[in-house]
Amino acid sequence: MTSPQSFIKISDDDQGYSLDQFCIPKHYENDLSHVLIPEGLIHDRTERLARDIISDFGTDAIVGLCVLKGGYKFFTDLCNKMQLLNRNSDQSVPMSVDFIRIKSYVNEKSSGDIEVIGCDNLDGLKGKNVLIVEDIIDTGKTMQHLLELLKKVEPKSIKVASLLVKRTPLSVGYKPDYIGFEVPDVFLVGYALDFNEYFRDLGHICVINKNGKTKYSVTEK
Ligand code: HPA
Ligand code: MG
Repeated sequence: MTSPQSFIKISDDDQGYSLDQFCIPKHYENDLSHVLIPEGLIHDRTERLARDIISDFGTDAIVGLCVLKGGYKFFTDLCNKMQLLNRNSDQSVPMSVDFIRIKSYVNEKSSGDIEVIGCDNLDGLKGKNVLIVEDIIDTGKTMQHLLELLKKVEPKSIKVASLLVKRTPLSVGYKPDYIGFEVPDVFLVGYALDFNEYFRDLGHICVINKNGKTKYSVTEK
């Protein structure tokens, strides 16, 4: 690996950018505190992660395993950047894609139960180099659970790329192989990260405010 687990660190006192400096959908204007990571910066960072991944895998085929729903934008952008590198260099990495759907959050808390609510037969991953692509590692419990599940089908190797890793005292200590940004312990939305399914249609990664949490909260079971 080029530089192991190198990432962009966003500090706790980073107030990001004010909403009126960016284009925010009207329907979310009152529900956000500030922009923490503009979409353009996500793209630039993703381009570098794609380069690191391609260079680490050499010519070994990869199965990109997208963790839905939150991972879909990062997965798409990462795959696009990897394809771009593949068609512009002397060596290339064959790539295929697969999807798994996991749900664990209600409001801003992990429900504790990690539910795999949709996936093909994972047996197809046996003997393959699997790259799990996730939007955010928070406590790390979801990823630990997924890794246990995957190991049972005996892939040749498993690596994890996560766009974000949260600094939280609740962390189980898990760190992915590729990290985009390390972020403060605040609830983030946008770029496919949701709060009860809202805000996936917001491009930039933003911090939700009190109004947003109240407006879109659901009654916990
Ligand atoms: N935002 C959205 N989904 C999440 C987060 C977050 O901050 N942490 C874990 N899942
Ligand atoms: Mg996720």
